[in-house]
Amino acid sequence: MIKNITPSRAPIGIFDSGIGGLTVAKAVMNAMPEEHIIYFGDTARVPYGIKSVDTVRQYALQITDFLLEKGVKMVLIACNTVAASAEKEIKEKCNDIPVIGVIEAGTRAVHALQKHQKVGVIGTLATIGSGAYDRALTQMMPGISVFSRACPMLVPLAEEGWTDNSISEQVLQIYLEGVRAQNLDALILGCTHYPLFKEPIRRIVDGYGLSIIDSAEAIAEMAKTTLSDTDMLNPGKRGLLECYVTDKPQRFQELAERFLGKELNRVDIVSLK
Ligand code: DGL
Repeated sequence: MIKNITPSRAPIGIFDSGIGGLTVAKAVMNAMPEEHIIYFGDTARVPYGIKSVDTVRQYALQITDFLLEKGVKMVLIACNTVAASAEKEIKEKCNDIPVIGVIEAGTRAVHALQKHQKVGVIGTLATIGSGAYDRALTQMMPGISVFSRACPMLVPLAEEGWTDNSISEQVLQIYLEGVRAQNLDALILGCTHYPLFKEPIRRIVDGYGLSIIDSAEAIAEMAKTTLSDTDMLNPGKRGLLECYVTDKPQRFQELAERFLGKELNRVDIVSLK
């Protein structure tokens, strides 16, 4: 139900298949602490990255409907898999409500680097298979060379909370072996779950002189600029994070609180049709 409030006080909708998009929510809270955020994690259907484009698109449009019902003033697609599969359809559904996807944000962050001749992208099978990063990077920076690698084990590890132990370390070592050999200028963490592994990734690529691109900060900055340009920044003083999931709210709450370093008032469970 659309609440009858001043448009600038309306919430920002952020969504992902699970906890990964919290990396975006955290960056948005840092950049705009006064904003009200509605976070949606589709925990009953995670992972998206091994599903077909049609399925991911159907899920993403259901979540978009939910966020629009909540009266959001902006939608942030905090899931690369969704951005690769359904960004156009989400934008169509949202009409004049701004929609920003993580792939666009990550691409802009690479563009802002001094050196970006050779770039690596790691992501889910769906994101890498879609070629969405290759297209976006080449369109913005013709002549760029892109090396991609799907890392399907990382999302289940992140959802389990295993982001820095001996198992995740070994998995990352194997996935990043080829990446290290490429002599890259930058490595894009092309899945919003991957910044949860930022420290072990940093340790593994340390000494290879590459920049690690986490699109969370880039999308938060883009969101801030868009809201500021349209005079839609929340004039309030203290923001609020409201979370919705499709399964296991307690588990989500535990992981989210650990990652965000703050208590969540509550996490509600919803079913989507
Ligand atoms: N965090 C998401 C992404 O950025 C999706 C991960 C998944 O559900 O497979 O791609």
